[in-house]
Amino acid sequence: MIKKQLKRPLIICSTLFLLINSCNSKKDLSSKDAQISLGKFIFEDKRLSSDGKISCASCHIDKFAFADTLPLSKGVDGQFTNRNSLSLVNVGFYSHFMYDSAASDLALQALIPIHKSNEMNFNIYAYEKLLTLDDFAQDLSHKAYKKPITAALIGQSLKSYLSSLVHFHSKYDLFVSRNDTSLFSKSEQFGYFLFFGKGQCASCHRPPLFTDQKHYNTGFDTFDIGLYAHTLDARDKFRFRTPSLRNLSVTAPYGHNGAYPSLKDFLTVHLNIQNHPHDMPSINLLIQEQSAILDFLKTLDDSCYMQH
Ligand code: HEC
Ligand code: HEC
Repeated sequence: MIKKQLKRPLIICSTLFLLINSCNSKKDLSSKDAQISLGKFIFEDKRLSSDGKISCASCHIDKFAFADTLPLSKGVDGQFTNRNSLSLVNVGFYSHFMYDSAASDLALQALIPIHKSNEMNFNIYAYEKLLTLDDFAQDLSHKAYKKPITAALIGQSLKSYLSSLVHFHSKYDLFVSRNDTSLFSKSEQFGYFLFFGKGQCASCHRPPLFTDQKHYNTGFDTFDIGLYAHTLDARDKFRFRTPSLRNLSVTAPYGHNGAYPSLKDFLTVHLNIQNHPHDMPSINLLIQEQSAILDFLKTLDDSCYMQH
């Protein structure tokens, strides 16, 4: 079903777009979709954190494709997260979540930051109690589920909201739907051929999500152990899930540790790491080729987020 949908990205995008207009999240969402509205309400609710200052939206800001602009995000009491915030665009199509795939269910994943001491440091049952006294949330819960809100429904509503963040509105998507290379400039076209050819990028950053959802040790970090923390398989040390390359223009800084403010600098390191046991193939690109790839990457920016 999902595969079938992914083959027709523009169609689902425009249907959902008309339904909820999630591009401009300030507008009220359709009352027909109470699950999504309740999820959005919870996503933006700062009462979900122990100091009352942090909501999901503090680290996943809509105009930055639901990522943020800091190397590491700020949680409660000025604490920082261990990794760079991930964009939540198209996250409903993923089968596992986070750089180290710590969770495989979006409703459960959504509850993890609530309990993390350096993120929201709160408790889902305490929040459930708060919501039972909230008329607006209760009303939506009755519309959505025909029953009062529960901890499980909080996770379910967040999942519904996150799954509605579907965006395939980039120049690249237009090119795919029309099969028209004239939409690209010369340099974007050259970058496109390199991305799918000599550069080997698409073998890991596979369209349409621009991730294969697999894990690799790309060799630039020897501090964060990545996937190994969950599998305890020595081969998984320093392996991280391939990130999507959509909307890179608004998701700086780059790398799971957010150490690279510029895409150009990140790419230089990503492609030129040597003397390291890692999973990256050897990719030798000339300076002009790297610059064409950077131009192509811009075609993956969604028109939605570039208006801001
Ligand atoms: C303090 C900042 C912060 C807060 C608050 C926060 N997140 Fe995140 N979120 C992150 C970071 C950082 C990551 C990447 C973590 C990693 O990969 O280890 C992330 C990852 C995710 C992912 C995985 C995305 C993917 O591509 O796999 C989802 C889904 C998510 N957050 C949803 C939420 C929801 C829902 C809330 C609120 C209940 C929330 N986040 C609150 C910082 C935050
Ligand atoms: C072997 C798989 C693989 C190949 C081939 C590959 N990448 Fe990556 N890429 C990754 C992984 C894994 C990461 C995450 C690195 C990290 O932060 O730990 C990544 C990260 C990135 C990022 C940073 C994204 C962000 O938001 O931080 C960019 C940009 C990128 N790759 C572009 C490219 C380009 C362009 C090519 C081809 C020239 C390429 N990659 C080839 C696996 C790959």
